Amino acid sequence: MRRAAAPAALAAVVAVLLLTGCAGDQSALDPKGPQAARIARMSWLIFGFGAAILAAVTVLFLNAIRRGPGEEPRLSERGAWRFVIVAGVAVPAVILFAFLAYSARTGNIIATPPPDDALTIQAVSRQWWWEFNYKGRSPSENARTANEIYIPAGRPVRFELVALDVIHSFWIPNLHGKMDMIPGRRNTMWLQADHPGVWRGQCAEFCGLQHALMAFVVVAAPEEEFQEWLARQASEAVEPADAATRRGREVFLGSSCVLCHSVRGTLALATVGPDLTHVGSRRTLAAGTTPNTRGHLGGWIADPHGIKPGNHMPATQLPAQDLTALIAYLESLR
Ligand code: CUA
Repeated sequence: MRRAAAPAALAAVVAVLLLTGCAGDQSALDPKGPQAARIARMSWLIFGFGAAILAAVTVLFLNAIRRGPGEEPRLSERGAWRFVIVAGVAVPAVILFAFLAYSARTGNIIATPPPDDALTIQAVSRQWWWEFNYKGRSPSENARTANEIYIPAGRPVRFELVALDVIHSFWIPNLHGKMDMIPGRRNTMWLQADHPGVWRGQCAEFCGLQHALMAFVVVAAPEEEFQEWLARQASEAVEPADAATRRGREVFLGSSCVLCHSVRGTLALATVGPDLTHVGSRRTLAAGTTPNTRGHLGGWIADPHGIKPGNHMPATQLPAQDLTALIAYLESLR
C-alpha cells in the first residue's frame, strides 16, 4: 500500500508544480478574457487528445514486443492489414479533420468584428518600444502614451496594429493570441479582459537586438478608474510645483531630450521617442526593461546603452545637479 502511494504522491506533486507554472502575468495557459479562453481550451483539448493517443500507441507497442520466440502472431495477415487501415489511416484522418474544423471555427469566432461599444487603441511598434494612441469620441479621450496601457475591464478593446520599421508582433498572452505588425499594413484585432488585473504584453516576432526587451504593461481597470486614467493621460503635463522641478524643466527643454521626446504643454513636440507627458505615472522604463524608479531613471538617462544595448536613445551627459533636477521633473510628470 505504502509503496503504491509513493509514485502517486510524486505524480501529484509534479502535476501541481506543472500547473502552477501555467499561471502568471504572461501566460497563454492562464486566460483572462474570452478569446484567450477559447485558444487555451483548444490547446488543452489537442494536448489531451495527443496524450491519450500517445498512451494508446505505447500500450500497443509494448504489447507487440512482448511476443516470445516461436509464438504465433495474434492477428492473421488479413486482420493485420485491416488494423493498419482502420487505426493507422481512417481514425487519424477523422481526428485530424475534426481538429481542423474545430481550429478553423475557433479562428473564425475570435476574428469576428468587435461590438460597437469597443474602445479603439492604435498600437505603433518601433525598435524597441510601443506607442499607444487612444482614439476616443472626443478630444478629451484622445491620449498618447508609451509602453503601458490601461483598458476598461469587461469592455471590448479594438487594436489597430501599425509597424514603422520592421515586422513586430503584438501579444498579450493572457488576453489573446499574437498578431503580426507589418510595415505598410494595418492589422486589427480585439480583446477583452473579464476582470481587473495587470499583465505583460511582449513583442513576439524577432525584430532585432532588443526584441526580448520590447514589452509593455497592460492594466485592466474598473470603468471609472479607467476613465480617470484616460482623462489624466489626455491632459497636458502638470506645471512644475517647486524650484527643483522648474529647474528640471529648464534642463529638459535646454538639452537634446527635446530632439526626440514630447511633453505636451511645453515646446517639446518631437515624436521620435516615447511621449513623456506622463512618464512619471508609468510602472516601467524602456519598454518593460527596468522598474520606473529614481535610480533606474538616472541610470537610463546617463547610460541607456549599458542597460539596453543598441537602442536609439543617446546617452545624455549632464552635471550631477542638472541630472538630479531633470529626474525630479520627469518623476513629477504624473
Ligand atoms: Cu519588436 Cu520583436
